[in-house]
Amino acid sequence: MMKIIKTVLITLIVSQANSVVAASCEQTIEGNDMLQFNLKEIVMSSTCSEVTINLKHTGQLAGNIMGHNWVLSKTEDFMAVALAGGSAGPSENYVPLNDSRVIASTVIIGGGEETSVTFSLASLGIGEDYTFFCSFPGHYAIMKGAFIITN
Ligand code: CO
Repeated sequence: MMKIIKTVLITLIVSQANSVVAASCEQTIEGNDMLQFNLKEIVMSSTCSEVTINLKHTGQLAGNIMGHNWVLSKTEDFMAVALAGGSAGPSENYVPLNDSRVIASTVIIGGGEETSVTFSLASLGIGEDYTFFCSFPGHYAIMKGAFIITN
């Protein structure tokens, strides 16, 4: 019995060590009360079948004043999606409904809150130009960065 437990433990340790070597398919990004994301780019491997973005608001201001979300689109669509998001309003988390240009998006959060989104990379291409941004009105000009997919 002990031998079985030992074997299971060793297997667990080895598989955890392997997962450290593999590319991370998860990224945490922080937004603050100064209209800033702490990352200018996010790099993900195409070997990730899906990726998770964790958004953390490290500020104190409420979501209706200094709300942040994380939205991903092709760079060529970014401005149009940001503007459409503004029109969609707070009830839609400033994300246009049923808009195929939106690759992924989170809800709007305020200070001290966290949220996340998990999505597939299947429709995204290596070397294509993607932009992530906060679609809260006025924030997209500053709160944005590059989303890069590598081999
Ligand atoms: Co924001």
